Amino acid sequence: KEIFLKDYKKPDYLFDTVDLEFQLGDEKTIVASKIGVSPGNEVGTTSPLALHGRDLKLLSVKVNGTELKSDEYTVDPRHLTILTPPAGVFNLEIVTEIYPQLNTSLEGLYRSTGNFCTQCEAEGFRKITYFQDRPDVMAKYTCRIEGDKTLYPVLLSNGNLIKQGDLEGGKHYALWEDPFKKPCYLFALVAGQLECREDSFVTCSGRNVTLRIWTPAQDLPKTSHAMYSLKEAMKWDEEVFGLEYDLHLFNIVVVPDFNMGAMENKSLNVFQSRLVLASPEAATDGDYAAILGVIGHEYFHNWTGNRVTCRDWFQLTLKEGLTVFRDQEFSSDLGCRTVKRIADVSKLRSYQFPQDAGPMAHPIRPHSYIKMDNFYTVTVYEKGAEVVRMYKTMFGASGFRKGMDLYFQRHDGQAVTCEDFYAAMCDANNAQLPNFLQWYSQAGTPTVKVSSSYDESSKTFSLKFSQDVPPTPGQPLKEPMFIPVAIGLVDSTGKDMPLTTIYSDGMLKTLSNDGQPIFTTVLQFKKKEEEFVFNNVSERPVPSLLRGYSAPIRLDSDLTESDLYFLLANDSDEFNRWEAGQVLARKLMLSLVADFQQQKPLALNPKFVDGLRAILRSTSLDKEFIAKAITLPGLGEIMDMMPVADPDAVHAVRTFIKKELASQLKDDLLAAVTSNRSSEAYAFNHDSVARRTLKNTCLAYLVSLNEPDVTELALSEYNSATNMTEQFASLAALSQNPGQVRDDALLDFYNKWQHDYLVVSKWFALQATSDIPGNVANVQKLLAHPAFDMRNPNKVYSLIGGFCGSPVSFHAKDGSGYKFLGEVVLQLDKINPQVASRMVSAFSRWRRYDETRQALAKAQLEMIISANGLSENVYEIASKSLAA
Ligand code: ARG
Ligand code: ZN
Repeated sequence: KEIFLKDYKKPDYLFDTVDLEFQLGDEKTIVASKIGVSPGNEVGTTSPLALHGRDLKLLSVKVNGTELKSDEYTVDPRHLTILTPPAGVFNLEIVTEIYPQLNTSLEGLYRSTGNFCTQCEAEGFRKITYFQDRPDVMAKYTCRIEGDKTLYPVLLSNGNLIKQGDLEGGKHYALWEDPFKKPCYLFALVAGQLECREDSFVTCSGRNVTLRIWTPAQDLPKTSHAMYSLKEAMKWDEEVFGLEYDLHLFNIVVVPDFNMGAMENKSLNVFQSRLVLASPEAATDGDYAAILGVIGHEYFHNWTGNRVTCRDWFQLTLKEGLTVFRDQEFSSDLGCRTVKRIADVSKLRSYQFPQDAGPMAHPIRPHSYIKMDNFYTVTVYEKGAEVVRMYKTMFGASGFRKGMDLYFQRHDGQAVTCEDFYAAMCDANNAQLPNFLQWYSQAGTPTVKVSSSYDESSKTFSLKFSQDVPPTPGQPLKEPMFIPVAIGLVDSTGKDMPLTTIYSDGMLKTLSNDGQPIFTTVLQFKKKEEEFVFNNVSERPVPSLLRGYSAPIRLDSDLTESDLYFLLANDSDEFNRWEAGQVLARKLMLSLVADFQQQKPLALNPKFVDGLRAILRSTSLDKEFIAKAITLPGLGEIMDMMPVADPDAVHAVRTFIKKELASQLKDDLLAAVTSNRSSEAYAFNHDSVARRTLKNTCLAYLVSLNEPDVTELALSEYNSATNMTEQFASLAALSQNPGQVRDDALLDFYNKWQHDYLVVSKWFALQATSDIPGNVANVQKLLAHPAFDMRNPNKVYSLIGGFCGSPVSFHAKDGSGYKFLGEVVLQLDKINPQVASRMVSAFSRWRRYDETRQALAKAQLEMIISANGLSENVYEIASKSLAA
């Protein structure tokens, strides 16, 4: 059943208080709830009260203490309906029985390695008890948990612990009370054998907060980086947004089986292990960075998500886009801003752009869904964060802060919409952003074309913009959007020119900043076509457009190749230096792909090699920036720009360029490896991360040559590595080339690490994403590996997800990759529909390929959709993929 945003109606009944009681058992768990109900509108309604529920056994239902007779309510597989509730305030008591040990969907209450835990967002609370499972129903909760004291020594829920004690029969109980009103998706319960690392944080107003990270005992040493991250996040939110933590206790629980990354339940965040546990020996710099970002993300939700929540699930980006933006800023401030921005933009381009151009394209606020779980997407999260970033670009840091302050002032304790956020931002800045709300309703990545001209006699420089938003499913025609374009003009010596006046909208505007010269200004491009003319421009400049990637668009400018090489060498905006290199690389790759397809010999433009050599030799640039700047765009990005995606050609070309660069820059690459070794103990800070990143990037280039000296070098790096970052990078470098060395190294690594399931997941992913010939069979074999487990999402994402992300093997021309995925999806769907649905998405862009591949992929989608008992999750993705 499809649900539409336009059908939103306020609830007829409000829930003010919810008192829950859990009796945890191995065979069955009993859930008793007592709800204080009041009318949702002034005229006391007498409409039936419909509660959601799934996989529940109803034991009893009472209204104001009296058991309802069988003709006073109805039960169907998805609802319990109270037919004639009393007018006014009343008490509702419901008792249900559930079976967490059988719950493999990892939604609602389930077991993971013996412990109990919950995941309620988006609509999992209905698997715990009958309830109005919607975010605009906000109540104050208490939660009493009762269970065996030996099996479940730790009993946690949201808020404050107010009572605990022993019971007869070896049991004990704990009573929790959350003083803040919340929607049920933020409810959480955890019970089991866990131990904690404890620390504390004193907030800006002097509140002492106890911080606890809970894991199985043996993992406790691996929680120190997570604790560091949490304390930094708490401090950062106070400093940057004035937001303080609001309770005396903050818990984080680590769970090996978890569908998503983590969950922001009030004062009881739940994380999958990968995003908490780290040690230098077993986790990479990438893992450390991900932990910092996600610990921050979930903590920041306490204000953006929990204190102010969403009216309905269509508004998801209100909390997710905003919170991703906040975690990006947090990571930027603790690391390197340019490098973080490059990483975020790369992610957007490689994952969100394809989604926005395919059958699942949706605005950051979707208009409809069948299963909400399918809309926790890169569009809602990452593009949503870009939309939030545009407010900051328009209003500046202090204007953005004013907007945030007003948002909390107006909406603390409420469930609101994206318009409420927009209004707070505009009102706080006394501004209007015409056509800006289109970002919330129109899908598709806008393309912006820019052409420039310089008039010597009048000393004016003109930029003509036009925008085009492509058609997407259900949205054939689009309106112009508000696009902020940050821009600077670079003179022939490579310096930014001062910008004085600009003519646009038929008006002459002075650009000033309290008398200081302006070097970057933000153009407000909001019509189909618009011209901006800069005055007093002394010579023909090279424009640096869309600085810092000021809007989530595709830019198509008339900059020449030599302009781009000039910007690569000179732009004061480091992001745009990187970008100039990427534009050059994309053009180069596309033209070589055409050569390859016409069976012409491939040759690399020497200017490109020179440009990268200069970057590589720079002593002033950040090392991580250098690593990013010498890394070619991914296969997906290039395929995305072709009329018919050709994975084999793009792969051949990328491999060719990589080897060619490696051989021509070999001495510089070797020097970079040698000079970036270090014998210092592992530390996670920007300088050390940057050093390792550059070294590892160069090593991978070198090993692609598959020559004895570089293989030897990588082997010695592998053997001497004292941290996982360097150990894994050298293993990955070695595994590029099929053969005995590769096989031996992979086996050695497994033998070393087989006891550590997170490292084994990396080992699965490395092999799954490999583009060595015949890899489908390897991955098929790994499915049967004793360490693999279809019920653990982490392992599925590593092996199956990894495989789908490697274009050459997944898109093998004989259809073997498609057939493999088709079978796995059906198997997975029986276990965990959310995970199956994520995997089936790999098929969604099947129309992008040649006819042979199209037919093979389509056949798999048709096979999936005709399967018996298919979940709504998989059905939605598969049917939309076939329809578009
Ligand atoms: N709100 C979580 C976050 O921090 C994600 C939870 C997603 N849950 C789901 N069933 N899709 O982003
Ligand atoms: Zn989130």
